[in-house]
Amino acid sequence: MKGLLTAGGHGTRLRPITHTKNKHLIPIANQPMLSYAIDYMRKAQIIDIGIIINENDKEIENIFGNGKQYGVNLTYIHQNSPLGLAHVIKISEDFIGKDKFLFYLGDNILVGGVNRFIDEFNKLKSNCHLVLSKVNDPERFGVPEIKNNKIISISEKPKNPKSDYAITGIYLYDSSIFEAVNNIKPSERGELEISDAHQYLLEKNKKITFSEITGWWKDTGKPSDLIEANKLVLKNMVKKKNFDYYDKVEFNNKINGKIIYGKDSIIKKSIINGPVIIGNNVVIENSTVGPNVSLSNNCKVINSRIEDSIVMSGTSFLNIKKTIKNSLLGNNIQINQKNEFFNEINLIIGDQGKIEIG
Ligand code: G1P
Repeated sequence: MKGLLTAGGHGTRLRPITHTKNKHLIPIANQPMLSYAIDYMRKAQIIDIGIIINENDKEIENIFGNGKQYGVNLTYIHQNSPLGLAHVIKISEDFIGKDKFLFYLGDNILVGGVNRFIDEFNKLKSNCHLVLSKVNDPERFGVPEIKNNKIISISEKPKNPKSDYAITGIYLYDSSIFEAVNNIKPSERGELEISDAHQYLLEKNKKITFSEITGWWKDTGKPSDLIEANKLVLKNMVKKKNFDYYDKVEFNNKINGKIIYGKDSIIKKSIINGPVIIGNNVVIENSTVGPNVSLSNNCKVINSRIEDSIVMSGTSFLNIKKTIKNSLLGNNIQINQKNEFFNEINLIIGDQGKIEIG
């Protein structure tokens, strides 16, 4: 089985962060979002993976290279313009050949991996196996109509959804999907829709089966989705080592719950409420960090308090008297406060921002 992973698009709802960073590289628990999908594939013995990237994108390739360090072989496939997910499959036909494949949208984060879905697909000998999740807003997704435990129709972002399930961005196919993507027509928004390809398969009496995600899944379009994904991944994170931070941090700290702690970082006179991940060369002094905070390498938190946030590398907080919460912060941002003023601060700031408060 091969893997196909999307890492293109423009991430418009995540600007300004996505002005300088591909959305799929935003760190969740200090790892680029895309690395979770690659990890899940490797754990499911999927080694040959095609990654779809925007034309001229070098960022993804610079980070993941040929995939050796992740134990996989990566092939980069360029999509010249955003013509839809079925178009992504269409341009990947040479790479996939006659193999079965897992198609995974790189901005989907789930807990628990993909093995269960692959086992179901193989056991049921389906042409296409979809992974569903119950949601409150099905009109934002591809939605199945289900009767007697069978999918009988599928529509993309319907105004009147026929179920409260979203079709998540985790799909399993055999090569009959290529007939579908080569025969459907673009939708009103000019894209080859994945839901239309699924509807085509249903009309040709192909076997479409499904699994339901009972745990956690998210399509990370907005900053709040990323902050929630970060929270969940942190909650589930395995301790890499036994709490060895006691040797490294200075005294006068109060450390509660799970923390992962990088090299050469210093914590002084602070309270850390896990789960928290701290990268390398981070300084935390006279501050309260956590719960649900990821601090990347080279961050500084001095006389400040931060909760439920993702902070990319080199960003610093100095003398922020009120809690920073639900924030997504890019690289190398400096935030300093001079006077006491606010109760809570919510920030979405791109790389190199500089904020002075008060
Ligand atoms: C895409 C698909 C949609 C699917 C969703 C899952 O939507 O078109 O059918 O439910 O991914 O993440 P998009 O996120 O591009 O709006």
